[in-house]
Amino acid sequence: MKIILIGYMGSGKSSVGKALATHLSVKFLDLDAKICAEENKTIPEIFSTNGEIYFRRKEAEVLKKLLEREESYVLSLGGGTPCYGKNMQLIKNTASVTSIYLKTGLLQLKERLIVEKDSRPLIQDLKTPEVLEDYIRKHLFERTFYYNQSDLTVLTDSKSVEEVVHKVVESLD
Ligand code: S3P
Repeated sequence: MKIILIGYMGSGKSSVGKALATHLSVKFLDLDAKICAEENKTIPEIFSTNGEIYFRRKEAEVLKKLLEREESYVLSLGGGTPCYGKNMQLIKNTASVTSIYLKTGLLQLKERLIVEKDSRPLIQDLKTPEVLEDYIRKHLFERTFYYNQSDLTVLTDSKSVEEVVHKVVESLD
């Protein structure tokens, strides 16, 4: 069993992923954390020293490696992972994978990302909540095409991590 969590920045992929893996007694993998470990840099450092194209190439390479693992796991992707190259195709063509889109509304994403934007190079320079909201609206619209190709969708709005885990487990049954 391989569960892959998909969703926009701030949708809770990592915190839900950790709790879900514990609940299912399987390993938790975080794609961004793997990339950082291989590069020995933070995500903002990779973007500023190597650029986004390098990051996207590395992201695709590490995803492919993780999909080739035999063991069961919960894997949280980065917000952009399904939207580049053949990543979503690869996810869909890998045996035993269930992909789950954690769907979060614009206003909740904005509230979360206002306080967490410094660790995210794509939004760290957006100065006001209005500019941030405008960016998320357009970006989310473009990305939804890819997110919607997930096997399952779970709405996360106003739910705690435990409640989202419960919903995910229910939707897997
Ligand atoms: C990105 C999302 C980030 C990280 C990188 C790019 C994106 O992951 O992979 O900053 O393109 O949406 P999170 O979704 O965990 O913030």
